[in-house]
Amino acid sequence: MAVQLTDTEVTLSLSDDPNTSCKILLYGATVYSWKSQNIEQLWLSKAAKLDGSKPVRGGIPLVFPVFGKNNSDDFKDLPQHGFARNSTWEFLGQTQQDPPTVQFGLGPENVDEKLYSGWGSNKDNDFTLILTIALHHTYLKTSIDVINNNDYSWDFNWLFHNYLQVNDIEDTLVSNLAGENCFDQLLNEHYEEKAPAVTFIEELDRIYNQIPEERMVQVIELGKVVHSIQRENLPDIVVWNPWVDKSSSIADFQPKDGFKKMVCIEPGYVKKFVTLNPGETWSASQIIKRNEPLTLQSV
Ligand code: BG6
Repeated sequence: MAVQLTDTEVTLSLSDDPNTSCKILLYGATVYSWKSQNIEQLWLSKAAKLDGSKPVRGGIPLVFPVFGKNNSDDFKDLPQHGFARNSTWEFLGQTQQDPPTVQFGLGPENVDEKLYSGWGSNKDNDFTLILTIALHHTYLKTSIDVINNNDYSWDFNWLFHNYLQVNDIEDTLVSNLAGENCFDQLLNEHYEEKAPAVTFIEELDRIYNQIPEERMVQVIELGKVVHSIQRENLPDIVVWNPWVDKSSSIADFQPKDGFKKMVCIEPGYVKKFVTLNPGETWSASQIIKRNEPLTLQSV
């Protein structure tokens, strides 16, 4: 069976290749495992909670309606990264057989009242989120539609917080960001990326912004492309690795040297807010691919 459902999660697998599969928790609609030909592509903390008690540390948590903490009136009372990753989504069903494709939905009625009331000055922003996940032989596609059901406009951020698995972070490069604008969240500074590729030797937390859509960001290990990310309507890319000190301060980050095995490459709309008008739908998607050729688009 290509789609299996339990009370807490949905599993997709390819009928002609059962070793290619993904698992999605209803909590947060979090993809917490994606295996391509039996090789796990996502990093998941050994201490990640999969019981709905806190957002999943690993996989692909979803960030909405705010990225990080924001002190402006409409967002200051929300938890870090909003409430989509800590709400239980509804499984809407399978929409396609081949490739197996499923949808999940979230609206105000699914969100804890206290969390929800932290958003917006009207306190009744009526939204619908539809997440679509499609599993292919060599890639995973996740798409989001955000619908404004109010008769007034409101603002939001969106982000796919991908924890990608690598063999050794010190052998890992992230390409095709040279010459782009970057906001370094650790230095609190904007600058132009001068390095031909992003390398990792310490904690790194940057928002690359307004990256042209044709730019394919690639994660390269010892010269081999391990992940490539194609984006639609997601102009910003957060690159994050917590390294030694930050990992040890995160209770559900295990093992403590797990930062060597992961890199977060997070396509989103986070540097500015999307303003969504009454009745309108905003759509965006990402495709995470394996085994792509090296594409040099900036050096
Ligand atoms: C990243 C942010 O997206 O998420 C980091 O850029 C943050 O600043 C990280 O530390 C993890 O956030 P959280 O809330 O899951 O611990």
